[in-house]
Amino acid sequence: MATKDQLIDLLIHDLTGPLSIVSTSVSNLINKEDKYGPYNEYQKDVFKRILRNTDKAKALLQEIIEVYRSEEGLFRKEQFLIADILKDALMDAVEVVAPAVGEELARVCDDASFSDVLAKNGIFIDISGKYGLAPFNHDQKKIRQILRNLISNALKYRKEMMKLNISGDVDLMVSVEDDGQGIPKEKQNYIFKRFFNIKEKKGGPEGLGFGLSCVKSLVETMRGEISLKSGEGAGSCFTVRIPPL
Ligand SMILES: Nc1ncnc2c1ncn2[C@@H]1O[C@H](COP(=O)(O)OP(=O)(O)O)[C@@H](O)[C@H]1O
Ligand SMILES: [Mg+2]
Repeated sequence: MATKDQLIDLLIHDLTGPLSIVSTSVSNLINKEDKYGPYNEYQKDVFKRILRNTDKAKALLQEIIEVYRSEEGLFRKEQFLIADILKDALMDAVEVVAPAVGEELARVCDDASFSDVLAKNGIFIDISGKYGLAPFNHDQKKIRQILRNLISNALKYRKEMMKLNISGDVDLMVSVEDDGQGIPKEKQNYIFKRFFNIKEKKGGPEGLGFGLSCVKSLVETMRGEISLKSGEGAGSCFTVRIPPL
């Protein structure tokens, strides 16, 4: 049985390396068609699929590494506006779960039209409390990772709407609410376990069951808390409390 340090080393060196090589090689093939091509449409699609999935694997691996690292409690202390990080996390999630909305958002250039596009797509943001104006002290990458995971689940499982709420005057409070099928009471303890995924009906969204366990472990290392209010058919609302660093 490998120790945790050995596992992290294995992830970093033995998986990141080969994945990067695959991804760079395919990028080269795609970008240098004049040298290696010409390609037919089928070949182009296959190259793009390889690249997309290698990048997905790289991103997941990066998250796993980040989580194992942060379980040692190593945080970088930074000052940032939570609204900025929330927006970044939302864009990350939207690009993966709802790419059409992502494209629409990338085209707008002022805050008002940004909110309009969000509202049109059933996404609502409410920021109140101290951190509406004052910067929050913490590791921004980790906060972004927590938000991104909760937001992508809400986007994945909602019917029509998702609400993001930021509040708090000492500890930061974030809630992510959706109007989806909800999580039955008896499953609520399990969803935070690593690699747990409620069996979906055929055609439903599928995932790895890694996200929420990462969020929980990050939040707990931050001496914060995560809670869930949900029920069968009642939507879900995840709330996270994080003390400043
Ligand atoms: N907002 C939500 N609404 C309904 N079910 C959810 C929601 N968030 C998470 N779940 C359930 O919890 C499981 C674990 O979530 P997560 O750890 O993020 O893994 P993944 O998103 O990779 O499936 C999901 O597979 C899903 O069944
Ligand atoms: Mg998830």
